[in-house]
Amino acid sequence: MEPPVLFSVAPDYYRFAVAELRAALDVTKAQRVGPDAGVVHLGSGTLHGAADACWGGQIPLVRHLARADAVRGAGTFDTPADLAEWAESVLLASLEVGDTVSLHTWDSGDAKFAPGKVRRPLLEALLDNGIRVVTSGADTVASVCIGTDRIVAGVNPSEVSLCDWPGGRIRLATMPEQVSRAEFKLEELFSYVGAPVGDVAVDFGASPGGWTRIVHAQGFRQVHAVDPAALDDRVSVLPGVIHHRQTAGDFINDFGTTYDGAPIDLIVNDMRMVPQLTAHTMVDAAALLRPGGQAVITLKLGTNNPEKQIDDALNVLAAAYDPSFMRQLQHNRHEVTVVATRR
Ligand SMILES: C[S@@+](CC[C@H](N)C(=O)[O-])C[C@H]1O[C@@H](n2cnc3c(N)ncnc32)[C@H](O)[C@@H]1O
Repeated sequence: MEPPVLFSVAPDYYRFAVAELRAALDVTKAQRVGPDAGVVHLGSGTLHGAADACWGGQIPLVRHLARADAVRGAGTFDTPADLAEWAESVLLASLEVGDTVSLHTWDSGDAKFAPGKVRRPLLEALLDNGIRVVTSGADTVASVCIGTDRIVAGVNPSEVSLCDWPGGRIRLATMPEQVSRAEFKLEELFSYVGAPVGDVAVDFGASPGGWTRIVHAQGFRQVHAVDPAALDDRVSVLPGVIHHRQTAGDFINDFGTTYDGAPIDLIVNDMRMVPQLTAHTMVDAAALLRPGGQAVITLKLGTNNPEKQIDDALNVLAAAYDPSFMRQLQHNRHEVTVVATRR
């Protein structure tokens, strides 16, 4: 039988993620590892199948996966060295001399041992056994998650991890030119699905201008930044950035009826708005977007029944778009990011 699957999720969405996993996979048992991680046991199916379901958008609240070759209670080990020795034997059972692994050691919640304390002896033990260890980028991931409830170790191909960072906790560097933290959402998204290409883009809910800046930096010649609020001066002076100081609804009515420029290739939308309304706005805006054009949409869910909000928004979007990606990114708080193509 397949080993269980370790997954990570935003703490507020844990039970919703388990519901998604149960709906998409043959889950026989779910166990908490810590506030933002759990393991699911599968009656049938595989870790690869779970990863495919995540990439296909069926399990949007799961951020990261790993194989749980062995699971122990959080109180099992007395010292970090004991834990490292156990993890070594679990990991080496799936590795051969000469293998290179990305070693992911991470914690879920205020765990008994800090990951760094376990990582050091484990790293040395793996090296002593002829395993090359890197931080990320290897084809194989060896992971140890130390949670408040359980400890999990396992080895898997990195392609099924969804994200090559311990626990999926991708860290992006802050740049001096950055104008909003929201920029991280687009940067993280592009690391998964690639950056969009095109000539003309629209940014709904653009203020203070982070997404506009990033889209502009991708080479879009014209970016229509739509928001009643102000744009950062560093963004409004960029050549080709046009600030429409109005709501998205007014922009679609005004601009949509008079615009006769080059076709619009991309609409990004990070508006602070309930998901159904965001989706309706995007369907109205589809008239502006060329067929085959891309949309990147943040659905702001809150914590009240996110599954229903996602479903309702997707049902609305289906009138004009085919979604190709949906995930709660590390940089989304109570949101999911959707990528969709205009039919
Ligand atoms: C989270 S901020 C966007 C941050 C932006 N993506 C960035 O990177 O700087 C949300 C924005 O949505 C805008 N917004 C809310 N309702 C809107 C509407 N109906 N039309 C246009 N913008 C709207 C707000 O004014 C706010 O500036």
